[in-house]
Amino acid sequence: LKYRRLGSTALDVSVIGLGTWQFGGEWGVNYSQDEVDAILDQGNELGINFIDTAECYGDHLSERFIGNYIHRRKREDWIIATKFGHQFHDLFSRTDRYDEVSVITQLDQSLKALQVEYIDLYQFHSGPDEAFDNDKLWTALDKQIEAGKIRHLGLSIGKNNNIHQVENATKVGAKSIQVVYNRLDRAPEEQVFPSCQQQNLGVLARVPLASGYLSGKYKPGAVFSNNDVRHRHDAEQTKLRLEEVDRIRQEEVPAGVNMASWALAWCLRNETVTTVIPGCKDPEQVRANAQAISLLDS
Ligand SMILES: NC(=O)c1ccc[n+]([C@@H]2O[C@H](COP(=O)([O-])OP(=O)(O)OC[C@H]3O[C@@H](n4cnc5c(N)ncnc54)[C@H](OP(=O)(O)O)[C@@H]3O)[C@@H](O)[C@H]2O)c1
Repeated sequence: LKYRRLGSTALDVSVIGLGTWQFGGEWGVNYSQDEVDAILDQGNELGINFIDTAECYGDHLSERFIGNYIHRRKREDWIIATKFGHQFHDLFSRTDRYDEVSVITQLDQSLKALQVEYIDLYQFHSGPDEAFDNDKLWTALDKQIEAGKIRHLGLSIGKNNNIHQVENATKVGAKSIQVVYNRLDRAPEEQVFPSCQQQNLGVLARVPLASGYLSGKYKPGAVFSNNDVRHRHDAEQTKLRLEEVDRIRQEEVPAGVNMASWALAWCLRNETVTTVIPGCKDPEQVRANAQAISLLDS
């Protein structure tokens, strides 16, 4: 695989990472530990070393699956990123919890679920500016870095043009920005990426397959089950996006090239992007996604 340095940290992350929202059960599948193990083993075999999870992919459920896996493997083989700020109640139901007291409780719950002593990257999970502007939060988190529970802080911005949070990243001690970036959504190129470059921040491109639509396997009118987050997407908007995907497939994707691999390579051609974190449903998708590397050289 290929690796890029995450901003000013000493972490070399694989340019293809593993997004793990799906392990929480909101992507149409309820995972077993064996299925999760197979995905992470496949990633490890291919040289993938970066996992992105969160407190609210299930109530620490995705973290627990990862923890049960990591516990039996080598902790130091992996760079683990998780997040704070929500309480999961049920599928697609969460409440905000960004205050400095409950964030520390969440951190301890995440460490326990992940069965690790430290988290490599602890990210503010797409919170409002009001929560971001709370100095007490960042002071409390700095203390957790001093205590050795967190290596680095990061921000996952909710709207992909939230320049307020990006511009203040260094001020709050964050070393990375996680943002929606893919062939259908290029907004970060305008202001977010220039600010990341200027501050030497790592960039995690999330939703790099536009929720799977950029895999090219869905046609306009595609329907998703009630436990798949895509059933909540605006139907008309999805139809327009899938029409655009079809146009891109015909006009931009070279014949014989897997469109998912192509879409990930497209993100990585932008050098500001440190890693892409596609959600992978099974080992086969991990392999296809890692194949993006071969397209980078061409
Ligand atoms: N606010 C935040 O911080 C936030 C928000 C969203 C996501 N994230 C992070 O970003 C990660 C990725 O985003 P995402 O999962 O929402 O969207 P995504 O990565 O754009 O799409 C993932 C979906 O695409 C399909 N897919 C993946 N690889 C494929 C392949 N090789 N061929 C065909 N289909 C493939 C799978 O679904 P099907 O096979 O069912 O189509 C998979 O669930 C998440 O797991 C999470 O870690 C963070």
